Amino acid sequence: MKKVVIVVFVLLGFLSFSVIRSLAQEEEIIINSSLYKKHTMPLVKFNHQAHFDDYGIDCQDCHHLYKNGENVWEDGDETSCEACHNEPTVKNEKRLSIPEQKLNLKLAFHNNCIGCHRKYNHENKTKAAPITCQGCHTIKQQKDNK
Ligand code: HEC
Ligand code: HEC
Ligand code: HEC
Ligand code: HEC
Repeated sequence: MKKVVIVVFVLLGFLSFSVIRSLAQEEEIIINSSLYKKHTMPLVKFNHQAHFDDYGIDCQDCHHLYKNGENVWEDGDETSCEACHNEPTVKNEKRLSIPEQKLNLKLAFHNNCIGCHRKYNHENKTKAAPITCQGCHTIKQQKDNK
């Protein structure tokens, strides 16, 4: 009897440990799009949860699903940017045609992330939101999608 109780407690311990760990992992995302077979820059650590819980940003400011020109995205819809923005150019991407630029993954990220950061810093007279390359591309150890 005693043995069974101990086994149950050990199992519960493992279970709650892995639940807590998986919750903690979702707070921060290391963005590493598989569209890039090789990254030319260090990866970007993105504090996902802080952006909505602490900075008060709507899911729909970053996630979208357009229907008749309206953003109808809701939790459960596609979150991977590269699922739609699958144009891979990372150099001189602003020389692509306008339709290609709209599909370009690097521009999708940069326009979304840096666009908001610039506006936020300007409106709040701060530098809290990073706009320099080194401010975002901080993860030196590259994990490439070979
Ligand atoms: C400031 C921008 C931003 C906001 C705000 C935001 N997200 Fe995200 N979210 C992202 C990015 C970027 C990714 C990673 C996309 C990629 O790798 O292609 C992501 C990934 C996800 C994922 C998949 C990864 C995971 O953690 O499971 C889910 C689910 C998700 N977001 C849901 C939400 C919901 C729900 C909200 C609102 C409560 C929200 N997001 C708010 C930018 C944002
Ligand atoms: C379901 C497909 C889909 C997903 C997923 C998606 N996008 Fe988009 N995105 C679009 C479409 C369609 C447009 C509109 C292009 C247009 O204006 O015709 C767009 C537009 C944009 C624009 C404005 C582009 C411009 O030049 O006007 C940005 C920035 C952007 N997306 C960033 C992101 C980011 C960041 C993610 C991931 C968090 C993401 N998108 C996920 C389909 C998607
Ligand atoms: C709609 C606005 C908005 C968007 C979109 C946005 N951010 Fe932010 N970001 C903020 C604000 C606001 C802060 C925090 C300012 C402060 O600390 O007061 C911030 C802070 C940060 C920081 C530094 C602090 C921290 O939380 O680590 C990083 C890094 C960052 N953002 C990365 C990103 C990346 C990467 C994306 C795109 C995937 C992104 N952000 C998209 C508004 C935004
Ligand atoms: C606000 C955050 C932010 C800033 C500032 C920023 N980037 Fe990025 N950048 C990103 C994100 C997020 C991605 C998508 C990374 C991925 O998908 O792996 C990205 C992707 C890229 C890519 C394509 C992926 C690769 O590694 O080849 C290049 C190149 C790049 N950025 C260069 C730059 C340069 C150069 C600067 C400074 C002029 C800069 N970025 C500033 C967030 C940022």
